[in-house]
Amino acid sequence: MIVTLTANPSIDRTVQLDAPLRRAEVQRCSAATSVAGGKGVNVARAIHAAGRDVIALLPAREGDPMRTLLDERALPYHAVPVPFAVRTNLTIAEADGTTTKINEPGHALSPADAESLVDALLAQCQDAAWVALCGSLPQGAPAGWYGEVIGRLRERGKRVALDTSGAPLTETVAGDHLPSLLKPNSDELAELTGEAPETLEDNLDLVVAAGRTLVARGIEYVLVTLGSKGAVLVTADGQWQAEHAPVSPVSTVGAGDSTLSGFLLGVSANQSLADALALAVAYGSAAVRLPGSQVPNPEHLTLEAVTVRSL
Ligand SMILES: Nc1ncnc2c1ncn2[C@@H]1O[C@H](COP(=O)(O)OP(=O)(O)OP(=O)(O)O)[C@@H](O)[C@H]1O
Ligand SMILES: [Mg+2]
Repeated sequence: MIVTLTANPSIDRTVQLDAPLRRAEVQRCSAATSVAGGKGVNVARAIHAAGRDVIALLPAREGDPMRTLLDERALPYHAVPVPFAVRTNLTIAEADGTTTKINEPGHALSPADAESLVDALLAQCQDAAWVALCGSLPQGAPAGWYGEVIGRLRERGKRVALDTSGAPLTETVAGDHLPSLLKPNSDELAELTGEAPETLEDNLDLVVAAGRTLVARGIEYVLVTLGSKGAVLVTADGQWQAEHAPVSPVSTVGAGDSTLSGFLLGVSANQSLADALALAVAYGSAAVRLPGSQVPNPEHLTLEAVTVRSL
């Protein structure tokens, strides 16, 4: 069993325009879709599609459209009631491929609601080997919140994966309670090292050096995703790079979330680290070949096109 936490979920609404967007005018859209979004929700979707036990935990009150969208997907989830509606993030998609995104700030989670979320997480994860903490924090939550949650999960012997950015990432890594697994992309690793993201993407030695520093701090697995350049895994037992044969990306939305799902599926099935990394990259490259935020199922994977080398 794997539990994912999405503390700041969103409903991702896309409206498709057949003509260019015209400011200050009324326009009709040709299609409109809403999907249950948020990184932990995406991770749970891919794990569920692989037939493994998973629960997505998130704050959403009874009757919230977010819950309806999750019900429609038949995704196992547990929603903690909160006194506000889940925010909607709007994507305006034009016929020429231009997209404009307008994200709502979301409501602040009160300290009492944040505590209810942690209580629910601790209750839901009793049978879980892994807990994945994914995405941004709600407005007003202290940047050290993930560190506190990790401390409480690790006290209970849980392995914790963290995929976040900005202050919640830098504060957690500087703090006392470290995750078992960190999944930065090149921008997020750059936030930790102070290098430019492009410098890291072009220099695997720097990626490995940054990974080793994090492993020396006590993080067991550092899984760095590098967009089209695949991913690097650094552990105390070795370091590897995996790449998929070139693909034509359709949508990179959620590619990192799918990569994390693939790695968790591999390590929780006791695969070797190199095999789990290959599965992670197979998931990432399958995700970019699928439209929108669609996540892969095992039939989408082309594992034979992934090469892994020890660094
Ligand atoms: N342009 C691309 N071409 C091929 N594969 C890609 C491309 N972009 C991403 N991928 C695949 O997806 C994985 C994750 O990509 P990336 O490093 O962009 O994650 P991310 O920035 O965390 O994504 P997310 O938006 O989900 O947070 C990569 O390791 C790779 O396997
Ligand atoms: Mg990411």
